[in-house]
Amino acid sequence: MFQPFPLKLLALAWLILNNRAEHVESLEPISTTIAAGFASVVSMFFIGDGFNAIKCKTVECCTDAWINPNFTALNDILKTRLHGQHLVRPVIVKALRAHLKNPNPQKALALSFHGWTGTGKNFVAGLITDHLYYYGRNSQYVHLFAATHHFPHENHIETYKDQLRDWIRGNVTVCPRSLFIFDEIDKMPSRLLDSIKPYLDYYTEINGVDYRKSMFIFLSNTVANSITQHTLAHWQSGAPRETITYKEMEEVITLRSYNEKGLSAVSANWLLAQLNRNLQRLWSYFGQTWFTAPDGRQHSFHSGGLWHSELIQKHLITAFVPFLPLERKHVKLCIKDVLRVKNITVTTDLINKVADELQYSPGRPGLFSTSGCKRVEEKVDFVVLDVENED
Ligand SMILES: *[C@@H]1O[C@H](CO)[C@@H](O)[C@H](O)[C@H]1NC(C)=O
Ligand SMILES: *[C@@H]1O[C@H](CO)[C@@H](O)[C@H](O)[C@H]1NC(C)=O
Ligand SMILES: *[C@@H]1O[C@H](CO)[C@@H](O)[C@H](O)[C@H]1NC(C)=O
Repeated sequence: MFQPFPLKLLALAWLILNNRAEHVESLEPISTTIAAGFASVVSMFFIGDGFNAIKCKTVECCTDAWINPNFTALNDILKTRLHGQHLVRPVIVKALRAHLKNPNPQKALALSFHGWTGTGKNFVAGLITDHLYYYGRNSQYVHLFAATHHFPHENHIETYKDQLRDWIRGNVTVCPRSLFIFDEIDKMPSRLLDSIKPYLDYYTEINGVDYRKSMFIFLSNTVANSITQHTLAHWQSGAPRETITYKEMEEVITLRSYNEKGLSAVSANWLLAQLNRNLQRLWSYFGQTWFTAPDGRQHSFHSGGLWHSELIQKHLITAFVPFLPLERKHVKLCIKDVLRVKNITVTTDLINKVADELQYSPGRPGLFSTSGCKRVEEKVDFVVLDVENED
């Protein structure tokens, strides 16, 4: 802590001695000794907590000054910039607020984002970090792990496990309010993810480290098919999309995950073999031929998804966040945002041209954008270049 008192006293002594020195020349050596003592006390002061107090005014520290969430701003930006996801904002703001305002949370925060690419999972994770930490996604307390980037080799899994455990332990020790984002969790081997499980549980400490203030966000495509099916059925019934309730989507996510687990328990090996050899047939077997993953991958029974269901069964996930597939009208709103950011005059014609560049499914003309808002920026550049060439 900052202790101004001894410092002031020393400064006073220093002043008095200096004053005297003007009158009595022979005091010079004494004055030098005092100066040396003063310097050493000052340096001790700077090495201790006092130094941290001063350092943390300019350098990022794990303090309220640097981790100071503005929920109003987060709520506002989600309202204006996230399109077609009426279920996302309420649950996220509520969960984050409850965890961050609580000085003694019972367990780490674990948010599980579900939905196809381009529906806004990464976008929202980015906005959260931007509004939690002063340095946003550049904060040293924010850690992003992407399956294909950080853990590419299946046979190095034991090394990865140790590494991941060390990273999380190390970082939470440095800052209890650390945020870990796991992208593409469905592509991570479940054995690797097992090593995180204890950190999400209700333990007060593990080997002297308390993980309950830390935050985890998992992004995945698991159950995205079920979300799409449910949204489609809702649309076909003629009800407005906004009447889909959080509760019913939560059920879709949890039930689907249970099913995936049940299925795997029966015949995981057989299934994996089939998966490798004949994905397409497997897919149609489950009646889902009508929807292809936007990134061209046929996805589902990956181990990451199965692990996920264990988390669900153990109630270690604080909240599920369903991202619905986006319709053309939502994509148009994303296009509008991109045009505005790029200072390009927004016209209906231009918006339609860009929207036409994307693919929609199921059916013809398809209902949902297969890449959501993901490729909008690149398509805008493409169309604008085209228009310029025509002129
Ligand atoms: C939070 O954000 C809102 C809207 O951007 C802003 O008006 C307000 O001043 C911010 N609050 C704090 C404490 O920074
Ligand atoms: C924190 O995590 C990062 C990976 O995001 C890792 O490189 C770093 O070594 C970790 N820090 C500590 C103190 O463990
Ligand atoms: C757009 O215009 C604003 C104000 O005219 C300017 O500050 C900003 O840098 C511009 N952005 C781009 C991408 O050109």
